[in-house]
Amino acid sequence: MESAPPTDPRTTSDQVIRFPDPRLRRTAKPIPVEDMTPELIARAQGLFPLMYEENGIGLAAPQVGWNVRLFVINLSGEPEDELILLNPVVEEESGGTWRAEEGCLSVPKIYGKVTRNRRIRMVGWNLEGEEIEVEAEGMVARCLLHEHDHLDGILFIDRLSAVKKQAIRRKLRALEEDYADANAS
Ligand code: NI
Repeated sequence: MESAPPTDPRTTSDQVIRFPDPRLRRTAKPIPVEDMTPELIARAQGLFPLMYEENGIGLAAPQVGWNVRLFVINLSGEPEDELILLNPVVEEESGGTWRAEEGCLSVPKIYGKVTRNRRIRMVGWNLEGEEIEVEAEGMVARCLLHEHDHLDGILFIDRLSAVKKQAIRRKLRALEEDYADANAS
């Protein structure tokens, strides 16, 4: 009989879940103000180190299996560029569309061009429960829209062209097999 292994501190914190985990496909729930407890705030802040560890520039709560409308982004990695938004709403999209390559921590090793609007205005709450407005363009706008999609169960692969979807089919199949193996009992 073996003794219990020592507790791995990583098992007590959130982990990024991967396609095709069905938790990525849920519509996340709005956070009522009374749910903004110190525990929720601490868990939300914990998304930043996890995102940095994974070399990401954005991470949404559903990507750790947490079914709430909240995400973090930081395109530069500098502390002053950290942005967290709770209950974000896209108020306006403008500036025409542009295509650029995206990837996602939940869909590893797959990249593809996605068409999105160039400029956006988003409103949401910060961790103090204050409403904040974010105006962004270019890559920041793209990242905000990508993370906002996660809250509605949408992945960037859903937005690829039909040709590109066909091209990544085998890679998606491989991820499905990895997922099935990892979840086999
Ligand atoms: Ni993503």
